Amino acid sequence: MTGIFCAIDAGNMQDAQDMVRKLSRVDIGIKIGLELFVAEGPFCVERLRELKGGNTPVFLDLKLHDIPNTVAGAVRAAVRCRADFITIHSSGGTAMMRAAIDAAQDAALQFSCPLPALLGVTVLTHMDDSDLESVGQQKPAGDQVLRLAQLADSAGLQGVICSPLEIASLRAKLSSRMKLVVPGIRPEGSAAGDQKRTLTPQAAADLGADYLVIGRPITQSADPAKTAQDILDSLKRNAA
Ligand code: C5P
Repeated sequence: MTGIFCAIDAGNMQDAQDMVRKLSRVDIGIKIGLELFVAEGPFCVERLRELKGGNTPVFLDLKLHDIPNTVAGAVRAAVRCRADFITIHSSGGTAMMRAAIDAAQDAALQFSCPLPALLGVTVLTHMDDSDLESVGQQKPAGDQVLRLAQLADSAGLQGVICSPLEIASLRAKLSSRMKLVVPGIRPEGSAAGDQKRTLTPQAAADLGADYLVIGRPITQSADPAKTAQDILDSLKRNAA
């Protein structure tokens, strides 16, 4: 069944812990992004996992993008956080992605840490065709996502981040080992905010997402645990 990561996009540890405590009984993973990681440092990853429950999947969304040597160094350090997933930008190119894979393998051995799955960010889900054109990239967005996802696949990453609108075309064209991790999820009636390429949780799951990344529709709802559990239950009903 499609899994869920809740994006804990908090600016400090106190707010992050409060949210993770609210979600403690719901069977979902947590995603830690740049806001919290930059504010609080690497210790927040282990601390939040412990708070949520030791086996909770943790997704460290660092979206690394730099020259291969620098990304390799950052991945080596990130492996020590023991996250299950770490993101890098596929647009950094093949050499950067391969350097990240080698660094993760080395660091996992050297520090006796689990080997995280490296995921390639394709086109951020707040960007539509006109945004892409404004930064001089190929459009439509779906073509650019496919190009970057195929690059990630051939470099040897374990999956990609894509919007729900691209799931079907990526499923048809990527290796079966590639995990599709999908933000831009908006349950019926919830505000889109800055996201532009969105679908509902059920629609994204039906299209074949491996994991959904859901932030504000859960964290800004009146009862985050109930909202998350309702989404999880609806996915279970659909899968049955
Ligand atoms: O609040 P919302 O559901 O929009 O949160 C989506 C989360 O997914 C954010 O933490 C954002 O950083 C992340 N994300 C994204 N688009 C990508 C990759 C990650 O929105 N392409």
